[in-house]
Amino acid sequence: MLFVCNLICLLAEQGISFLKNHDIGHKANYKSSFKGGKVMRKRFLLSLGFLVLAFAFTSAYAKHHTAEERGKAHFNNPTFAGGKKSCSTCHPDGRGLEGAGAKTKFSIMGGEQGSLEEAINICIVQANKGTAQDVNSIEMQELSSYIRSLGTR
Ligand code: HEC
Repeated sequence: MLFVCNLICLLAEQGISFLKNHDIGHKANYKSSFKGGKVMRKRFLLSLGFLVLAFAFTSAYAKHHTAEERGKAHFNNPTFAGGKKSCSTCHPDGRGLEGAGAKTKFSIMGGEQGSLEEAINICIVQANKGTAQDVNSIEMQELSSYIRSLGTR
């Protein structure tokens, strides 16, 4: 992010000096400054375009950068694991699950579960109407790291 801010500052400086140079040149020698200005403007626009692209890519990547953030996206996704509703319909913003990350025994929906992942699977199947996930799958790990993060916020 700092890198992007620096780039913006650099570009702003470049833009200002371009405007200044262009103005001075304009008074001194119209023809040559016009040519120079055109090249400068091309360069300025090129680097601006590049910056916009770089920014779009970084923010798209940063959006779901950590496992927790990807887990949160699964949590809010109504079609996660082939389900019909999202976890957040019943646990809005993860509320009520703050203690779940530290638990090793669960008893939900009339059964006993020995891990957070097993408990999540019960909700996936019985509540979301989706398919149980491999407890070691990446998606399950991301989902459980989001739930564990709820206890620390
Ligand atoms: C239809 C509503 C519903 C949906 C959708 C749902 N849950 Fe649940 N969930 C419950 C209920 C009810 C309980 C049991 C509440 C309790 O015992 O405190 C529960 C319990 C849990 C627990 C155990 C909490 C504890 O401390 O014992 C976890 C973890 C959990 N849900 C995660 C999820 C995840 C992850 C999803 C999405 C894949 C999800 N739930 C979707 C209703 C739902």
